[in-house]
Amino acid sequence: MMLDIPKQSSPSNLKMMFKPLLLSFGIVAQALAYSVRREDQHAWIAPGPNDLRGPCPGLNTLANHGYLPRDGRGLNVSIILEAGFNGYHMQPEILMLAAKASLLTSDDPVSFTLDDIKLHGHIEHDASVSRADFALGDNARFNETIFTTLANSNPGVDFYNTTSAGQVQQMRLADSQATNPNLTNTDKEFFIRSAESAFYLSVMGDPLTGVAPKEFVQIFFREERLPIAEGWKRSETPLNGSTVGPLIREIAQHSNWTPTEGQCHWLRLGPNDPIVDF
Ligand SMILES: *[C@@H]1O[C@H](CO)[C@@H](O)[C@H](O)[C@H]1NC(C)=O
Ligand SMILES: *[C@@H]1O[C@H](CO)[C@@H](O)[C@H](O)[C@H]1NC(C)=O
Ligand SMILES: *[C@@H]1O[C@H](CO)[C@@H](O)[C@H](O)[C@H]1NC(C)=O
Ligand SMILES: *[C@@H]1O[C@H](CO)[C@@H](O)[C@H](O)[C@H]1NC(C)=O
Ligand SMILES: *[C@@H]1O[C@H](CO)[C@@H](O)[C@H](O)[C@H]1NC(C)=O
Repeated sequence: MMLDIPKQSSPSNLKMMFKPLLLSFGIVAQALAYSVRREDQHAWIAPGPNDLRGPCPGLNTLANHGYLPRDGRGLNVSIILEAGFNGYHMQPEILMLAAKASLLTSDDPVSFTLDDIKLHGHIEHDASVSRADFALGDNARFNETIFTTLANSNPGVDFYNTTSAGQVQQMRLADSQATNPNLTNTDKEFFIRSAESAFYLSVMGDPLTGVAPKEFVQIFFREERLPIAEGWKRSETPLNGSTVGPLIREIAQHSNWTPTEGQCHWLRLGPNDPIVDF
């Protein structure tokens, strides 16, 4: 919704001049009130006891800021695509797969909740950077112990990048390999993990370089909050396949990944399944 600011006509006499002046004061006041309302509408509010959240910090954050329904329910493909655009400047193409796939996690034919997405073996996956493996703990809630690996990565500087994101993926996988006999580690999980890493770098940092301030990334994961008060802004550069593609490839390279033997990915994710490009 945009304010329609009428063009001022040039007044022909003195008396007429006051009218547009008053009018424009009115418009300024209205615009201010509007922007305050808009901010209120997207203020961070912690979820209440009946609000649902799930394994994806990006979607939880959109719900905590009212870009998605704050109760985390009644989601569908168009609601997700619109929220991703408004909150993160993500163009629909990069959320389409996750949004469509999420529909399969619910019994309802046309909608799902944030909680539904935790369905294990779907887009939810093991070796997450912020959640425990399904077989080992709570696969939906943020877990500070798990997150320590990411939090402590790229020592000596105040940013994360594609190198550190890849290293974090490698370390998290090694941990799951050591502790989780039920680990699933096919190219499907690997692609989703690498895309998610590219997303947190792009959304919290510069989507062209994949460099993201540690402070922003940590607030995003720990509080599921946009760090606006700390200086974060929605990217002016739209995020799309041309921006995240190269980041995903760099992260994948730095992950030194190999699939677990004997496992194969169970389904092609779309007509342009990017997995075949690795
Ligand atoms: C998604 O839900 C919204 C709100 O209920 C509705 O207006 C819209 O048509 C739905 N879109 C799809 C693709 O189901
Ligand atoms: C883990 O795998 C074992 C052996 O296949 C199986 O019995 C068990 O139910 C699995 N646990 C979970 C949480 O999937
Ligand atoms: C958090 O992760 C640690 C380390 O894997 C695990 O021991 C613990 O059970 C997890 N907590 C929850 C609530 O899943
Ligand atoms: C990421 O940051 C580290 C630490 O400064 C640096 O060594 C590495 O080269 C950087 N990676 C990229 C892709 O710039
Ligand atoms: C993809 O994003 C880049 C960088 O933001 C932009 O220049 C380009 O126009 C976008 N591509 C499409 C198809 O929108």
